[in-house]
Amino acid sequence: MNNDISTVLFDEAALLLRVRELGAEISRDYEGKRPVLISILRGGVVFLADLMRAITVPLEIDFMSISSYGDSTKSTGVVRIRKDIDIDLAGRHVLVVEDIVDSGLSLAYIRNYLAGHNPASMRICAMFDKPAAHKTDVVIDYIGFNIGNEFVVGYGLDYAETYRNLPFLGVLKEEVYR
Ligand code: IMP
Ligand code: MG
Repeated sequence: MNNDISTVLFDEAALLLRVRELGAEISRDYEGKRPVLISILRGGVVFLADLMRAITVPLEIDFMSISSYGDSTKSTGVVRIRKDIDIDLAGRHVLVVEDIVDSGLSLAYIRNYLAGHNPASMRICAMFDKPAAHKTDVVIDYIGFNIGNEFVVGYGLDYAETYRNLPFLGVLKEEVYR
């Protein structure tokens, strides 16, 4: 797997350090509350596992899965729910935990869908953001790192379901998906 990576953008230590900072910020903002963290499968699980342990307020977790990329590296813009949330979100403080925001189309869909469940509040936390790739207005309340438009893998992120278990975030060599 490592031979398919051209550059390591953030190593394990850098990722964990940033996650701890985000966790501290979220803990302060949600003092006295009991947020529901909603992780978007499957890419969001590594980030969720680290982030939830960096948050000191009591919380609940839930998962939802939507179709986005298939095995390609470009968003189809077509979103379909594969797994719905289980917790009743009415009156709850929802924090969406996303791996990465690219076009923002997935997030726009998720935000709209979850808003329909009448939460008391909703914020978005994304570990990585590609601001230059946004195709829609997305407000991200907590961002781990801004990156460029290159296709990245590791720390939960995949290409064709591979590389999710790399402990760092790396740029995938173009020859791998060309
Ligand atoms: P968007 O709808 O274009 O913002 O795409 C969001 C989803 O596409 C993310 O939750 C990821 O699952 C996936 N994605 C976007 N960019 C990358 C990338 O560079 N590597 C791996 N997955 C990505
Ligand atoms: Mg994905």
